[in-house]
Amino acid sequence: MKSAKDYIEQNKDRFLSELIDLLKIPSISADSAYEEDVIATAKVIEQRLLEAGCETVEICETPGYPIVFGEKIIDPALPTVLVYGHYDVQPPDPLDLWDSPPFEPVIKNTELHPEGAIFARGACDDKGQMYMHVKALEYMTKTDQLPCNVKFMIEGEEEVGSESLGWFVKRNQQKLANDVILISDTGMIANDIPSITTGLRGLSYVEVEVTGPNRDLHSGLYGGAVANPINVLTKMIASLHDENNHITIPGFYDKVEELSAAERAKMAEAPFDLEAYQDALDIDSVYGEAGYSTNERNSIRPTLDVNGIWGGYTGEGAKTVIASKAYAKISMRLVPNQDWQEITELFKKHFEAIAPAGVRVEVKPHHGGQGYVTPIDFPGYKAAEKAYKATFGKTPIPQRSGGSIPIVSLFEEELKSKTILMGFGLDSDAIHSPNEHFGIWNYLKGIETIPQFYHYYAQNHNN
Ligand code: BES
Ligand code: MN
Ligand code: MN
Repeated sequence: MKSAKDYIEQNKDRFLSELIDLLKIPSISADSAYEEDVIATAKVIEQRLLEAGCETVEICETPGYPIVFGEKIIDPALPTVLVYGHYDVQPPDPLDLWDSPPFEPVIKNTELHPEGAIFARGACDDKGQMYMHVKALEYMTKTDQLPCNVKFMIEGEEEVGSESLGWFVKRNQQKLANDVILISDTGMIANDIPSITTGLRGLSYVEVEVTGPNRDLHSGLYGGAVANPINVLTKMIASLHDENNHITIPGFYDKVEELSAAERAKMAEAPFDLEAYQDALDIDSVYGEAGYSTNERNSIRPTLDVNGIWGGYTGEGAKTVIASKAYAKISMRLVPNQDWQEITELFKKHFEAIAPAGVRVEVKPHHGGQGYVTPIDFPGYKAAEKAYKATFGKTPIPQRSGGSIPIVSLFEEELKSKTILMGFGLDSDAIHSPNEHFGIWNYLKGIETIPQFYHYYAQNHNN
């Protein structure tokens, strides 16, 4: 029987060129100018799933972008793995910071990827990681070693909140029935330190608008005499953290799960090089909530960050003006037991309460979602652990991530199954940033490791 290693060795050039073709399509879900490209990407994936061995593949229409659903059911008595991924990507801006155009993939070596990395928007998040599953399926079907039933559900709105996917999942419980959900849309610690993501943070994303006078004013004639919305907004935002960088919204921490000293000690065992972390970002110090380590700050603690702020004159030269309005986009990353809708309400109430007289404040909630924590003693985790052991030669470390995939908690609610997050990207792969890339070694290692998961899961899914 052909091993995955041999199969990959013989087919790797094609595996790469197929991914590169996929990366050339600018499937930017946030920007309606790319609507045709997003839909075209779904069609390419439909085709690729058929070629890889799915018996049936459909493009399922939704109120938004379509969901590609494919399956291969070999025996209803065997367990079913549901693979989820997304074919949409983040906008590539700012374009001038890319060393090569975001939708013209190139391969270059980097310090962490001496065997080369593919540079393109979506290379790691999530086309490259999603496509590992398509190629792993190809290997298992072409060599007659698929040990489980498999379903694929690949969506096109993850980067904008997965609204249509929620709609689809609620209406298709039977179709999506499965024993375990498998996702590669996260990362791992390092190529020689495999890890399994055991937690995702929740998210509440809001936009705020502060309105002062009914028109822009001359800053000499009116300055000092009326509230300046930009001054007010920045002061309000600054007050959302205290001197210890705790968030000041009343009730914000009420439901936060506090980890035991033993759990925190276990977390602290995960390898982390503070100096390398700072060097990679060109910063002379880390920054954050007092009393917590960097790894804790970005995984088990909730946060509040301004993602964008604008208003007034930002063109060339100087213009003396007091703007009528100021705006900001704010995200809050949440941890287990914090409910995103409740937090959104708390934010709104507080933000309105701290607005001084002389301005009006409007808080508009965008999207959000609950956090997620996977147990490490269920069959899915055990199978993943053995899979990494088989291909990396090391037991993976469980690690909670700071990122969010809000749909995962909805999967558990609606489909009653747990998700296993086998990510093969590195934090330094620059997802959402200019020069996003994905290591070729990581891509091929993922294709090699995924079939092992199926193998161990089929063996042991009842225990
Ligand atoms: N794949 C990421 C999430 C991620 C990346 C989790 C790395 C863990 C490690 C996903 O595509 C993403 O970007 N999610 C968004 C939230 C979404 C609602 C826009 C996020 O985390 O900002
Ligand atoms: Mn993603
Ligand atoms: Mn993303």
